[in-house]
Amino acid sequence: MSHELMRFSVAMPEDLLVRFDELVARRGLAKNRSEVVRDLVREALVEEECATPGMIVMGTLTIVYDHHSTDLQEKLHCIQHDYFEFIVSTVHVHLDQHNCLEVIILKGETGLVQDIADKILGTKGVKTGRLVVTTTGETI
Ligand code: NI
Repeated sequence: MSHELMRFSVAMPEDLLVRFDELVARRGLAKNRSEVVRDLVREALVEEECATPGMIVMGTLTIVYDHHSTDLQEKLHCIQHDYFEFIVSTVHVHLDQHNCLEVIILKGETGLVQDIADKILGTKGVKTGRLVVTTTGETI
C-alpha cells in the first residue's frame, strides 16, 4: 500500500470545527489539522483492534493496594506466576506506609489480557486499577 498522502474534504458543523481547531491548538505547534485527523483515525483503529478477539495486544495494568491487606500480596503474586508467559514486566512503587502502586505490563491475545486484568482487579483489597491496551495490529 502506498504511503503517499491522499487528499479528501470533510464537511462538519461550524461549532464542531471551532472545537476541533481548539484541539489542534492544544496539541501544539507541531500539529496541524491533517496531522490531528490522522492521529484520531489511528487512535480509533487501535481502539477497535484492541477490542477484536485474536489480536495481540500490550496492556499496562495500574493498580493501587494496601500491602497490609491479608494475603493480598501473596494472591497477586500467585496470579502473576500463573500467567508468567504473558507478563512482560512488573514495576512496584511504595506510595506511603500502607499503599503500593503496581504497573503490570501484559502481552497476549485480546481476551486473555482482559481476563488476567479482571482477575487482578477483582482480587479483594485492590483499591483502584485500570487497564490500558494498545496494539501494533499483530494477530495470533
Ligand atoms: Ni509496596
